[in-house]
Parts: sequence; C-alpha cells; structure tokens
Amino acid sequence: NNYVVIMAGGVGTRFWPYSRVTNPKQFQDMLGIGQSLIQITIERFKNICPDENIYIVTNADYYGLVKKQLPQLADEQILLEPTMRNTAPCVAYASYKIQKRNPNANIVVAPADQIIHKLDAFTEALLTAINAAATEDVLLTLGIQPTRPDTGYGYIKVADMESLSKVKKVKTFTEKPNLELALEFLESGDYVWNAGIFIFNVNTITKAFRRYLPDIHGIFNELKEDFYSLKEEESIKKAYSQCHNISIDYGIMEKADNVYVVPCDLGWSDLGTWKSLYEQSPKNKDGNVLSGNIMTYETAKSIIKTPEDRLVVVQGLDNYIVAEYQNVLLICQKDQEQRIKQFLDDAIKQK
Ligand code: GDD
Ligand code: MG
Repeated sequence: NNYVVIMAGGVGTRFWPYSRVTNPKQFQDMLGIGQSLIQITIERFKNICPDENIYIVTNADYYGLVKKQLPQLADEQILLEPTMRNTAPCVAYASYKIQKRNPNANIVVAPADQIIHKLDAFTEALLTAINAAATEDVLLTLGIQPTRPDTGYGYIKVADMESLSKVKKVKTFTEKPNLELALEFLESGDYVWNAGIFIFNVNTITKAFRRYLPDIHGIFNELKEDFYSLKEEESIKKAYSQCHNISIDYGIMEKADNVYVVPCDLGWSDLGTWKSLYEQSPKNKDGNVLSGNIMTYETAKSIIKTPEDRLVVVQGLDNYIVAEYQNVLLICQKDQEQRIKQFLDDAIKQK
C-alpha cells in the first residue's frame, strides 16, 4: 500500500547560473559523486516500496532527462506538468492519480534536492509516520532540529517535545518566517524545521484539499476519470491552466489542524543554495570547494564551479561563490547569496 512521490519540477534558481531552466539541479551531479540528486533520492526509498510504486512529478520539458536517468520507471509513473504551479497542484495530481490505482494508498511525498546521511534513521522515521498515517486521519511531516535562523524553511511548533511518543502533535506550522521570527523560534527550543517530506493516506490528503484548497480539489477530482487514459495529457493541460500557484506548505500544512511530526536526526540538509552545497562538500586545505580546472592563490572558504575546458585562475578571494555555466559567470560574496534570485530576475529583464 506504500507509494512515493518525488517532486522534481523546480528550477533551483538559487543555484543560478549553474541550475537553470535548461539544466535544473535535481538532474545534475551536484555533489560530484557520479549520480544526480534525483538518482540519489530514488535509491533512498528502496525499503519503503517497490520501484513500480514510485512516481515523479516534473515539468514536461524534463521527460527526456527522467527517462535517461531513471530507466526503471514506466511512463505512467512519470507525471508531466505543462507549467509550474508550485507544490500543491503537484501533490494533488500525484495523489488523485494514485488514488485511482489504489484507493487506500499511503503516500510519501519528497523533494528531489535533499541530502540524507542516516538512511536507517530515515527509513525508521518514515515507517513510523506511514504507520500513523495508515491508522489515523492525520497529515505527517518529518522534523529536523534547527541549527540556525534560516528563513527558507517551515518552522513547526511541537506540542509536547518531552513526550516519549515518536509522533508528536503540531501546534503551529509557519512557512518561511522573517528573520526576527526565525530567531525567536530557534531560541525558544520548541520548534523543528519541516524537512519538506510529507506522509499521509490518500483519503486524508483529498479531504484536506477539499477543505483548504477547494478549487484545486475540484479541478483534479473532476478529471479523475481521465487518469490512465489517452485523454490524460489533454485534461492535465487544462487543469494546470486553471490552477493557481501555491505551495503545499502555505496551502495546507499551515492551515490544517490534524498535522503531526516525527522529529528525527537524519543528517539532513536541503541542497537549496551555493552555501549549502559548500557546507556539504569536502574542502581542500584552504577550505575551498573546487570543481573545474582551477588554480587558486590566497583564496579561502570559497566555492568555485567552472567548466573543465577552461583554466580559471583566482587570487585573493575570501568567502566567495564563483560559478560559470554556458554564457554566464557569477562572482558573489557567499554571505550575499540570497540576492542571486534578484540577479537572475535582473538578468532576464536586461535580455
Ligand atoms: N513537480 C513540481 N512542480 N515540483 C516542484 C514545483 C512544481 O511546480 N515547485 C517546486 N517543486 C519541487 C522542487 O523541485 C523541490 O524538489 C520541492 O518541490 C520543494 O520545493 P522548493 O521550492 O525547494 O521548496 P522550499 O525548499 O522553498 O521549501 C520547502 O522545503 C523546505 C525544506 O527543504 C518547504 O516544504 C519548507 O517548509 C521546508 O522547510
Ligand atoms: Mg528546497
């Protein structure tokens, strides 16, 4: 009864210029280990369900990349979106489709851009959550001990941190708080980060959509009949043109009152930004992470990723990001990386 849905439709703009529409990070070997992020992600679920129960939701443009990197998946397991509408429509599409195949499915939804070092702990936490989702009318997420006031995450206030139960009631869910709030949450010790991995029974999530996002519920419920038929692609196009853009976090998790969390220690990190990649990568003696044909002098704590066929010489940079991909070269202080999205917007406007 277990199914896994991998959300892989993002563009990863915070990794610009390396990750971009034509080259999104989830299909890249960001860690330099010979496997793309989506390949590593899929492997992580081998103890949860067989390959034929894994679904990928991604943009139609990435169909070729998925087929090439994940040849074990059949076409009907690759759900193609005509446009990006964020994670709520993505979860609805996959859930309603799986529901038609198995009306009592337990579903794990996971992003394609994370690192998890402790696989046994991960499997154990997921099985605990699946067990709760199968028996109670609850939506679950995995909770990570926060280490910094990061404003890119969801913050979960746990009702009874001290209780022995592995599954804890969520008091409040706050998606991407401002820095002031994030600091307050961190210092209080009552909060965990939302790992962005959700677990529910298909009947519970459809109820949540009906209640909190009735328009999205209506759209996908109506086209249920077309799933697994030749009409599916046409109907999905129409459905996406009607959906608004909203994440599952803002759309459902912040509002629902039946949310539970399994706090866990997974060696988890979200490969969302250059700094996170820097932190996850092995460093040389100067604390640099280098990928390419690079010579450095008096350069430290920097991440430099440039094409192999180009000799790059760097002198005197401390704490920098240098990233080159195709026709774009970015040189940016590591601590200013939250501005990269803005740089990209400006670059598009200039074109
Ligand atoms: N199919 C599809 N379609 N996938 C999408 C879309 C879409 O339109 N938009 C985003 N995704 C995928 C991304 O590729 C990624 O794998 C995942 O959904 C999550 O999207 P992000 O854009 O990376 O979300 P986030 O990192 O800002 O926030 C989420 O993850 C955090 C943990 O990493 C939230 O769930 C936070 O609460 C959480 O803390
Ligand atoms: Mg993310």
